Amino acid sequence: MTSPVRLALLGCGTVGAEVVRLLHEQSTDLAARIGAPLEIAGIAVRRIGRDRGDLPIDPALFTTDALGLIKRDDVDVVVEVVGGIEPARGWLVEALRAGKSVVTANKALLAEDGGALHDAAVEGGGDLYYEASVAGAIPLLRPLRESLHGDRITRVTGIVNGTTNFILSAMHATGAGFAEALEEATELGYAEADPTADVEGFDAAAKAAILASLAFHTRVGAADVHREGITEVTAADVASAKAMGCTIKLLCIAARGADGQGQETVSVRVHPAMIPLTHPLASVGDAFNAVFVEAEAAGQLMFYGRGAGGAPTASAVLGDVVAVARNRLAGVRAASESAYADLPVRPMGEALTRYHISLDVADRPGVLESVAGVFARHDVSIATVRQGPAGGSAGGAGEAVLVIVTHVAPDAALAATVQELRGLDIVRSVASVLRVEGGL
Ligand SMILES: NC(=O)c1ccc[n+]([C@@H]2O[C@H](COP(=O)([O-])OP(=O)(O)OC[C@H]3O[C@@H](n4cnc5c(N)ncnc54)[C@H](OP(=O)(O)O)[C@@H]3O)[C@@H](O)[C@H]2O)c1
Repeated sequence: MTSPVRLALLGCGTVGAEVVRLLHEQSTDLAARIGAPLEIAGIAVRRIGRDRGDLPIDPALFTTDALGLIKRDDVDVVVEVVGGIEPARGWLVEALRAGKSVVTANKALLAEDGGALHDAAVEGGGDLYYEASVAGAIPLLRPLRESLHGDRITRVTGIVNGTTNFILSAMHATGAGFAEALEEATELGYAEADPTADVEGFDAAAKAAILASLAFHTRVGAADVHREGITEVTAADVASAKAMGCTIKLLCIAARGADGQGQETVSVRVHPAMIPLTHPLASVGDAFNAVFVEAEAAGQLMFYGRGAGGAPTASAVLGDVVAVARNRLAGVRAASESAYADLPVRPMGEALTRYHISLDVADRPGVLESVAGVFARHDVSIATVRQGPAGGSAGGAGEAVLVIVTHVAPDAALAATVQELRGLDIVRSVASVLRVEGGL
């Protein structure tokens, strides 16, 4: 058989340990699929002495010198499952410039400085694959960057963070508040000790940037993504959504569209939103991920599965390892980054959205007219108005709850409407403001 393809594995934690296990268990099949065996040349970790259980690997392969391992002449492919920006960026740029192929699961780095990695890959002539960086085991990036390259993607809407989906699903199922649902997620191992990256939407924003870059042939970074987390979502919001036949999900939305001057742009955002229970993403429960892709010729496509976890993520990593190993043996490389469209990213204020607004108001004649006047002044058209106790905190004598759903309008106009409503003396409080996605 042909001489082995040699891997440098950077990181041997949740994902890395499963990569080692799968490489061992499936070595014969993998060799047959590639046409050469895969061999681990070394594994870089932070703590050599860490107990790694019964991992089927020679302990002599562990090193703390990641850079030294990458630079070795007998390393063909670098697999990075450490995470974070530095030192990972320096390692991967070094590897790519030296002509090695790189497989990484590092969404934070790709969203922060994916351009530097792509440029280094072009310089060195190796491959850069990162299927595991978005939605774990779900084959999603390869379909976007290969299968759909004959089509024009118009919109990508996804649930790409399992922790927040678990929390919001629990809030919907039990009526629990955010803090209670987060506690349950932590106890069950779905949330990390510091859940900030998940609940504040940073993780989803990084994935949104990667998805938008691939879908729209444009470099989109984490800083281009409008981001809101789920910490402000209340049990009353969830109850209000339920009363409307909806549920609340943390969505990442990347859409193509024209601005006021007809210039084509992209908008990329992550925020909680109400979606109707009939929407395909509404039934994505627990810690599962799903991504809904709309393309002009293909129509609607849905990708669903486990978005995290050692083995599911390692499955995606190994799929990439097989692809880059085959390319090396064939002496070819995959198509490089496609960023030719270079579309401007539209500010959030210009993104077209709909709002669901729940107001506690004075129960007296003329209130509806005053409230409707505020919407009209900002050119925001009202789709439905409902009066009732659904989820609002009002209930005292002389108070009522108004639930208003708008038509699509620029986000800035909707925000200005809410701001003005807050200043009206007939509005006791703005109980909830949520964006609405999908038809109601
Ligand atoms: N976990 C998931 O479900 C999941 C899903 C999708 C993507 N990802 C991505 O996969 C990557 C790895 O995640 P993970 O959950 O496996 O992380 P993890 O369990 O924290 O493992 C990190 C590994 O990196 C090693 N490491 C840390 N700093 C290092 C340094 N300076 N030099 C050498 N090694 C170092 C650690 O060494 P020690 O073992 O000695 O501590 C550990 O083996 C991240 O980019 C993450 O975003 C993870």
